[in-house]
Amino acid sequence: MTKGSVPTTRVSPYSYAAGRLRLLDQRLLPHQEAFLDCESAAQTAEAIRSLAVRGAPLIGVAAAYGLCAEARRVVARVPDDLDVALALGAERLVSSRPTAVNLAWAVGRMRAVAEASSGRDAGERILMLEAEAHRIAEEDRLACLTIGRLGAAWLRARWTGLAGTPTVLTHCNAGALATAGIGTALGVVRALAAEGPIAILADETRPFLQGARLTAWELREDGLDVVLLPDVAAASLIARGRVQGVVVGADRIAANGDVANKVGTYGLALAARAHGVPFVVAAPTTTIDLATPDGASIPIEERDGKEVVTLPLPGGGSVALAPEGVGALYPAFDVTPAALVDAIVTELGISEPPHARTLARFVPP
Ligand code: MRU
Repeated sequence: MTKGSVPTTRVSPYSYAAGRLRLLDQRLLPHQEAFLDCESAAQTAEAIRSLAVRGAPLIGVAAAYGLCAEARRVVARVPDDLDVALALGAERLVSSRPTAVNLAWAVGRMRAVAEASSGRDAGERILMLEAEAHRIAEEDRLACLTIGRLGAAWLRARWTGLAGTPTVLTHCNAGALATAGIGTALGVVRALAAEGPIAILADETRPFLQGARLTAWELREDGLDVVLLPDVAAASLIARGRVQGVVVGADRIAANGDVANKVGTYGLALAARAHGVPFVVAAPTTTIDLATPDGASIPIEERDGKEVVTLPLPGGGSVALAPEGVGALYPAFDVTPAALVDAIVTELGISEPPHARTLARFVPP
């Protein structure tokens, strides 16, 4: 990446054309770059549930295109069934994962277009739905660029006078594989890397290994060096002064500024605060949910404990990580209290504590 250049990525996790949503199957990375075609809302919902596609903004984008695919599928068979099919598809998509609010938000926008276009010719309605899905994706792409620029400037200002190369630590994957653009947390990382030297640490992020498999893959694809860290090593490295900033994404930000993100984020925020390291959440305003008052009201997805005690193998099958019959708990997200978040970087500006008032200004009532 050339110094001072606008950060970019060559990674594209989705494409859509004529009723077919093509997803880069993230379950298979980094071993295989294979694609999964979704030609209905049900197939798209299953891709979201099974984590073939993941990341809060990207599941919103996928759901929007999933509804376009559904519309084309139904109109080719029984055009009169379009409204019922869209309503059922929307329900299925929204319930595929509960924590990321971007999913319900994107489906809500698609439903509004479906309602507003009711009574028009089916072909015209499909084009209107597709135009809205393209807008949702394009808005996210642009939001990532602004978030990257603002977040990098905020961190650089905190690093004034710092000797040596700063190190940023990120968790999970809030990058190009999780958005329609350069990513949110990784948008900030890419913008920092475009401005000057920076070291990047990524938590491996047990058990789905979004950090090891996805963040490492996409940064390498863009020629950026990344060093992986077992999740359990992060707090002690922060304590030893080896990290100058923690940057993560978010799945839902409540009205009071509490942040739900990949499980493990809360521990990083505690360690960062204990050792005076800036803790930054990077997210588009579509992740802010003013209807959810606080973190305790955010639904936390509980995934199957099997995903903790078995390791899928690249060629198929899996290996057991614990004795047969041992159970496991897998809350997929945790909540970081607003007071531990030094900055919430959105495309409309940066919120610093206390967050509640600023967040309300970012989201229209
Ligand atoms: O379970 P995942 O992989 O969908 O979890 C993703 C995260 O927690 C991300 O940090 C979040 O969605 C933000 S993505 C820009």
